[in-house]
Amino acid sequence: MTGRLKDRAALVVGGARGIGAAIAERFAQEGARLVLADVEEQAGEERARALNALFVRADVSQPDDAERAVELTVAQYGRIDILVQNAGIYPWTLIENISPEEWDRVFAVNMRGTFLVARAALSHMKAQKYGRMIFTSSITGPHVTSPGHGHYSATKAAINGFIRAAALEFAPYGITVNGIEPGNILTEGMKAHRSEAFIQQMASSIPLGRLGTPEDVANAFLFLASDEAAYITGTTIVVDGGQLL
Ligand code: NAI
Repeated sequence: MTGRLKDRAALVVGGARGIGAAIAERFAQEGARLVLADVEEQAGEERARALNALFVRADVSQPDDAERAVELTVAQYGRIDILVQNAGIYPWTLIENISPEEWDRVFAVNMRGTFLVARAALSHMKAQKYGRMIFTSSITGPHVTSPGHGHYSATKAAINGFIRAAALEFAPYGITVNGIEPGNILTEGMKAHRSEAFIQQMASSIPLGRLGTPEDVANAFLFLASDEAAYITGTTIVVDGGQLL
């Protein structure tokens, strides 16, 4: 532990597994005090126990749940310094087959969830005159896309617009708002959606010759959460092994 986040109170939404779990672990290594929020209770509880963190079951798309996760963080640690909204779903469906219900669900989790937790954390961060909000975007949507990602791409492009607007509104209170745009990262979610053959083929097309790890992404979150990023707001960092080149 080198203490880059020593005693910072952090809420990681979508922290039970995948990229979110790696963010939580990285933050804990650097001395942060953590709350993990997720819909996956068992994995979330286990992860929280391993990191000496609290777990709250919360569906980020629901206003009451989003607020509860933030309030629990403040009740536990007296403040909320860092908000990570990483919960996201990425069903693969061609636009002609996307039902209105599926469209709404992807927006509810990925985009509305981001707005809901940001809104819930804002009053506390304003009162503290300090806050770091970091949201998981993607290269898919803002930069590239592929068939089957119509709704997903739209949510991630929307998150980038929200990041800029929120950064502008919250800057007077000492709150920065940024995003991370991962490329193809080998997580449980990715393995569930993609065949081994697809993953091999993808790796060979990435300039650095491999898919990213959740830890690769977590390191970029750590940077944006750390004091070194104090003058960065309203922007996104691509973590993609050169895929966009
Ligand atoms: P994952 O599926 O492995 O993990 C996502 C986590 O979010 C899970 O713990 C899940 O239970 C939780 N979650 C889902 N819906 C939720 C809800 N309504 N409320 C609270 N928690 C919820 O996914 P992965 O791959 O780790 O992705 C994490 C984020 O990174 C997502 O926002 C995804 O869009 C984004 N991303 C992932 C990439 C990849 O290649 N894996 C690439 C670019 C972006």
